[in-house]
Amino acid sequence: TSVIAGVSERTLIAVKPDGVQRRLVGQIVQRFEQRGFKLVGMKLLQAREDILSQHYHDLHKKPFYPNLLRYMSSGPVVAMVWEGHNVVRTSRLMVGNTNPAEAYPGTIRGDYSVHISRNVIHASDSVEGAQREIQLWFDRRELVDWDCCDHSSSY
Ligand code: PPS
Repeated sequence: TSVIAGVSERTLIAVKPDGVQRRLVGQIVQRFEQRGFKLVGMKLLQAREDILSQHYHDLHKKPFYPNLLRYMSSGPVVAMVWEGHNVVRTSRLMVGNTNPAEAYPGTIRGDYSVHISRNVIHASDSVEGAQREIQLWFDRRELVDWDCCDHSSSY
């Protein structure tokens, strides 16, 4: 249910263990709220190996895969679902290049990270990928559909 007709795109954003440990969750959430996106799901969890291996299923042959899984299970992750017009593409721009050395200042990775093996945040790379990842990380009942209220009226 979006104000803009026919649009309610969603994406999965995850603050990785280094981001949580460095207390960056608040600043990251703030960027998405400020941009105008709507938070429809959020939880802190220690990611189990089955979730991570499914999440990164297309990378299991990469040389960095064991390190990636070790990193992602080294501490809690904050998984979030954000909704809004073009949220998948816009989030990727806000997050910046996968390799922080190539990420522009002003992007999340460009502002907070220096190395690809500690790049602070994950964002789905396509609408289809987002749907798959949201189903993997969240139960349907954990996602909340809500509309803006009139903040001047009493309850
Ligand atoms: S690839 O090789 O093009 O498929 O990789 P890419 O799409 O750029 O990245 C996919 C995810 O793998 C992570 N990655 C790494 N992690 C640790 N070490 C190294 N060297 C490394 N290279 C890539 C990268 O951050 C992507 O994870 P997400 O969670 O999507 O950011």
